[in-house]
Formats: sequence, C-alpha cells, structure tokens
Amino acid sequence: MTANPIPLSTDAATASSTAVLTVTRAARGEYAPDVLDLGTTLVREPRTGEVLVDVLYLSIDPTNRNWLKLEPVNTLVDKVGHGLSVGAPMMGEAIVRVISSQAEGISAGDLLAGVVPWQERAVVPAARMRLVDLHGDEPLEAHLTIFSHIGVAAMVGLHEVARIRSGETVLISAAAGATGRVAVGIAKAAGCRVIGIAGGPDKCAMVQGFGADAVVDYKNTPDLAAAINDAAPDGVDVYFDNVGGATLDAALLAMRAGGRIAVCGLMADYDDPDAPGVRNMFRVLVRHLRIEGFLAAHYWHKRDEYYSHLRRLLREGVIVHAADMTDGLGTAPDQLGKLFRGANNAKLLVRLDAAVDAASGGSRS
Ligand SMILES: NC(=O)c1ccc[n+]([C@@H]2O[C@H](COP(=O)([O-])OP(=O)(O)OC[C@H]3O[C@@H](n4cnc5c(N)ncnc54)[C@H](OP(=O)(O)O)[C@@H]3O)[C@@H](O)[C@H]2O)c1
Repeated sequence: MTANPIPLSTDAATASSTAVLTVTRAARGEYAPDVLDLGTTLVREPRTGEVLVDVLYLSIDPTNRNWLKLEPVNTLVDKVGHGLSVGAPMMGEAIVRVISSQAEGISAGDLLAGVVPWQERAVVPAARMRLVDLHGDEPLEAHLTIFSHIGVAAMVGLHEVARIRSGETVLISAAAGATGRVAVGIAKAAGCRVIGIAGGPDKCAMVQGFGADAVVDYKNTPDLAAAINDAAPDGVDVYFDNVGGATLDAALLAMRAGGRIAVCGLMADYDDPDAPGVRNMFRVLVRHLRIEGFLAAHYWHKRDEYYSHLRRLLREGVIVHAADMTDGLGTAPDQLGKLFRGANNAKLLVRLDAAVDAASGGSRS
C-alpha cells in the first residue's frame, strides 16, 4: 500500500483522504493482481454537475481486465471519454450512495449506479450515473448481478442478436458464470432446449440446477466437439458465446444450417495474446451461419423493457440473484484474477465495508 505522492483529485482545503486502487502498469499476458496498487488519495468537494459518493459495491468484470491493457481501443473510452493510465485510479461499474450533490435532481442519500474510480469515496459527474430503481424487496446488489450490463447482455444476445425461438437448441458457454446463468434462464423461459458448457463437475451441477437440459464439462472431456455433439445430436441452432477460442471452434462443428452465434465475450483470449485463431470458419460458409458480436451499452435504451422481463423470471425462480463477494477495496485485484481461472462461482462483487456500514446505519444485513 502506498500513499499517492500526487493527489489525484484535490481542490481546496476541504479535501479528505480516501483509499484508492491505482494502475501500476499495462496488464499484458496473464493477469497478475500487482497491476493495481492500494493507496490513498484526496477527494475534493463536488462542483456543479458533480456528486460526492461513497462506493458501496464494485462490480468486477472481464472488461476491467481489457481496460488494464491500456490499449487505445477499449469500451471505457466510450463510457467516460478516456482510458486508464499508469498512476491513475482503476475504474469500473459500481453502486454508490450520494453524500453530497451539486447536480440537479440528485440528493444526499440517493443510490446511483455507473462507472466510478475504484475508491472508497469519489467525486463523479452526475451525468454518467443513473438512479437505482429498487423494486420490492430485491437486494441492492441485484442491480449489478441482474439489472445491469449482465442482464442486458444476456437479453440482447439471445433475443436481439440470435432471435431465439421456442423449440430451438441453444448452447451457452461459461454457463455457470454471471452472464451465462442468466442466459440459461432466459433461453429456458423462451421454450428452448439449453445446453450449458462449464468447467468442472461442481459448476456443471450448478448449471443443471439452473434448468439446463444437458451440460458439457469442457475441462474434463478429451474431445469437446464430440461432447457437444453427444449433448446436441440434432445440432445447435444458437450459440451464446462467452469464451471464444477452442470452445467457439468446437461449437462451430455442431451448428445447424442457418444457425446464429451471438458473441457476448471472449474469455479465452483476454489473458492470452497468443491464443490460436478460429480454424473452423468453413462451417460458417457451408452452413450459412451468422456470427454477430454486440455490446450491452448499444442497447442500453431498452434496459427497462429487459428488466421487467428479468424481474418476472426472478419472481418465478427461473433466474436467481447470486454474488461471489469479498469485503474491502484491497480484495478487488484478486477478485478480478478469479475470472480467468474460473475461480468465481457467481457474479463477482466487492463490498466496501465502511461505506456499506454507513449506508445501512451500521447494521449490515
Ligand atoms: N457484450 C457485452 O456487453 C458483455 C456484457 C457483460 C459480459 N460480457 C462478457 O461475458 C463473458 C462472461 O462475463 P461474466 O462477467 O459473466 O463472467 P463470468 O462468466 O462470471 O466469469 C467468467 C467465466 O469464464 C470462464 N472462463 C474463463 N477463462 C476461460 C477460458 N480460457 N476458456 C473457457 N472458459 C473460461 C470461467 O468459467 P468456467 O469455470 O466454467 O471455465 C469463468 O468463471 C465475458 O466474456 C464478458 O466479457 C459481455
């Protein structure tokens, strides 16, 4: 832990100290947690259009790892207008509580979600944040595990990109993960036959518990293409791809004519710049497949429509809220690494203890 020699966001004498994770170097190759350093920085008072917030929950996402490559093309630039840099705070999606506000329509105590610096307390432009619209007794964290980019990505991939139809066979990789498990529920609710791919017997049992009709354990099968074929002897209509790489190659061999592949993410490539390319493109040609990537952000305007569908699935028990959560800002670098070892068993979050305690009046549930 280091004290940052250059205050990152100082203003007047009113600045106060807070914990921060800063970027130490570009994260190339296998992810290592020392690309982030825990230190302190100063936080000033908010100016017009800004809010001072306590960060309650950080969302730990594969995209954070890609931002850490410090390459010019990344989705953080689209979200906040700039990328990360060495010495600057790490950033990510979070739920925050407003301490004081200089922004119209936002008051102290409001709960917001959006991209913030990985700090316990921060000043952020209000225009970048959205009000958390809590329904009934749903947990606040569900606004990162379901009612967020996660639920939007699962809905977009299946309903907008792949346009699933009842009776179709849908294959989903990283099916035990945050996005994959929501996708399994959405596809089941649409009347599809669902095959999940996951690593290890425990995760496969989980995926079966989410309602999948068959599961393939890619870590314990000598021939992934043959295992997918066994699970889907009549072929796959839709592949919801979270991982790319060898899994995509194997899935291509199982696709039926006219099949659709919705590229949600490429876990196998993020940590491995030398990952082999896709070899089975011939199947795209002869089976006239459609492969389409998408970003949840491009469908953000439709989130209320998706959330009302997901709320119904949550009420019916077709999907569940689940978080793999640790306490304290200092745990975030290791949490991020779990994604690439498959060591997470649900949506990864970090709870910022002090802030959550303060938000709940000192009594955490
Ligand atoms: N397009 C969008 O807007 C959007 C939005 C949200 C997320 N995503 C993407 O969705 C994917 C899942 O993200 P998430 O946040 O839900 O994470 P997650 O699925 O909760 O965690 C990632 C999982 O990927 C699997 N994995 C890791 N390395 C792998 C490899 N080399 N080969 C095969 N599987 C591997 C692991 O599961 P196993 O233990 O089963 O291997 C791991 O638990 C990511 O690719 C992410 O970029 C995209």
